[in-house]
Amino acid sequence: HADDGYRLWLKYDLIKDAARRDGYARSAQFIAVNASSPILQTAASELQTGLQGLLGKSIPVNPNAGSRTGGIILSVSPAPNADVQTLNNEGYRIVSRQNNIIVTGKTAAAVLYGTFALLRQLQTLQPITNLTLTSSPKVQYRLLNHWDNVNGTIERGYAGSSLWKWYELPERLDPRYRDYARANASIGINGTVVNNVNASPRFMTGEYLKKVAALANVFRPYGIKVYLSVYFPAPRTVGGLKTADPLDPQVRKWWADKVKEIYSVIPDFGGFLVKANSEGEPGPQDYGRSHADGANMLAEALAPYDGVVMWRAFVYKADPKGDRFKAAYEEFKPYDGQFNKKVLVQVKNGPIDFQVREPFHPMFGAMPQTPLMMEFQLTQEYLGFATHMVYEAPLFKETLESDTYAKGKGSTVAKVVDGSLHGYPITGMAGVANTGSDRNWTGHTMGQANWYAFGRLAWDHSLTSEAIADEWVKMTLTRDPQAVKTITGLMLRSREIYANYTNPLGVHHIMGYGIHYGPEPWLDKAPRPDWRHTYYHRADSVGIGFDRTATGSNALSLYTPEVQKQWGTMEACPLPYLLWFHHVPWTKRLSTGRTLWDEFTTRYYTGADSVRWMQQQWAQVKPAVDPEIFNDVAGRLAVQQKEAIWWRDACVLYFQQFARRPIPAPFKKPE
Ligand code: GCU
Repeated sequence: HADDGYRLWLKYDLIKDAARRDGYARSAQFIAVNASSPILQTAASELQTGLQGLLGKSIPVNPNAGSRTGGIILSVSPAPNADVQTLNNEGYRIVSRQNNIIVTGKTAAAVLYGTFALLRQLQTLQPITNLTLTSSPKVQYRLLNHWDNVNGTIERGYAGSSLWKWYELPERLDPRYRDYARANASIGINGTVVNNVNASPRFMTGEYLKKVAALANVFRPYGIKVYLSVYFPAPRTVGGLKTADPLDPQVRKWWADKVKEIYSVIPDFGGFLVKANSEGEPGPQDYGRSHADGANMLAEALAPYDGVVMWRAFVYKADPKGDRFKAAYEEFKPYDGQFNKKVLVQVKNGPIDFQVREPFHPMFGAMPQTPLMMEFQLTQEYLGFATHMVYEAPLFKETLESDTYAKGKGSTVAKVVDGSLHGYPITGMAGVANTGSDRNWTGHTMGQANWYAFGRLAWDHSLTSEAIADEWVKMTLTRDPQAVKTITGLMLRSREIYANYTNPLGVHHIMGYGIHYGPEPWLDKAPRPDWRHTYYHRADSVGIGFDRTATGSNALSLYTPEVQKQWGTMEACPLPYLLWFHHVPWTKRLSTGRTLWDEFTTRYYTGADSVRWMQQQWAQVKPAVDPEIFNDVAGRLAVQQKEAIWWRDACVLYFQQFARRPIPAPFKKPE
């Protein structure tokens, strides 16, 4: 039947090979679960649904196995028990024992994650006999951040409107809320911030809290907690106070009362996400107070409960002489050690804003006493919206594997974020969601892979981009081995191709103003200097790029000496980062043997050509992929192809005015 992508990676279509199906069925004759909690009930019913689809059989669920064998037992084993000793609270263990498969963990949520892991084995056609699969999540707070507004629009959302129908809540519950929770639980996501960081104060009203509570009720059986973004001056705008000064006793009382009210309707409320004193959003600095003052006030209000504060570090003041790259570091570093123990500071992967490639944010490794949470962006704000195919796992991995050298070699960003480097007591990773009301959730079907990859990496950052792509393709698109290979190959190259035809060699922030789509490197007028694109590329008759060494902004000095060395000279700096740190002469000869100008333009041309290659690759998988999905992706690739040429021609022609050099010979022919 036609597949519109709605089922994501939870497809559970019948396994065609009867021998394999029978083999699985012999190990899955029954499900035994003492479904004492709603989450365990979810695990049992998800397993039953999955097996029904994959095996074409209705598998009975019993309260216990008794003396029966050949089934699957879901059970919570409180420690100390040899099976679960080495696991954390959400970690699972799947073992084959006495001819049964036992899925266990210390909590019901752990068993739920183990259940999805077992289903994944079947979906990807792996063996389920003699199993020992053990896995614990490496970070605790694995969250989606929705930039969804009360009016149903989504900031930087490209897949339709918001999933949340505020005007129908709490009375009507869209069935989609549950499907959303299923998808997230299956990849280990355990929390969701449902409203935009540019927050409406309405979410702090009783009217809206009831709506949010209704969502929380749907998500709870999937182990997912709800969080809210906070409008910092809410005590004034909805509370009627004269001030929102975080040190004012009345303001503090207002927040304490508000938190109490929230927990009375959402007993497992997750906490607050805050964008303050950033891009015009109000914050504690409006009252002469610091980020720490603001965050700590909210943390104190949350003190009697489980909730946490995630305070965002995305700040940059309009400073014509400054370098935006340094802003967050300079504002936050002095407060290391001064945050309440319930505060996480949430830092974007790079210092500017979700560009196709950024050096890791210099705060990572520099805040040993403040739990730093990673913020990745799944929605493709700067990566071609829902028309360009960009598989983001390689981008996430590149940041996570970057070495900060904060405590010598091997001090990767991943180790900062998972708490192992500095011993953070709480850890987290957030992904700005790419979901919306489109039938296939993410607009571009391939965008589903970014949601999937984020969840998998938040659980275990040591997974490879390739392994994640392989799983996702098999679960979502096809199990045909040749097609799997072709599609994963395409995915793995997609981000580099996009970088080549839009932002080669580390040039950045040259996209369409405001909309962040298409090329606009010529932008030299904007309300703020750091919103002008000439500020970032700095092209002139000599060369191009932002000198961030000691002769320039010296942003490099924010990194450890080892990192400075790695990026500090034009000769040493890896080409993908070159124009992030250096103003390079057009005539400079690079390690490829080409001059900078020739390399730069060659990348634009080969990048655009590669989109044709992507189209050819995709054409080959036609017989193996559902026609509806095949056509959807093929259509989007055709747009991408056209727009890759738009990017290439716009950028090459614009920069040629400065370089005054010819387009390299192989590319001179007109299209
Ligand atoms: C980007 C994005 C904004 C968003 C901001 C943020 O600047 O364009 O729409 O609000 O990031 O992360 O707060």
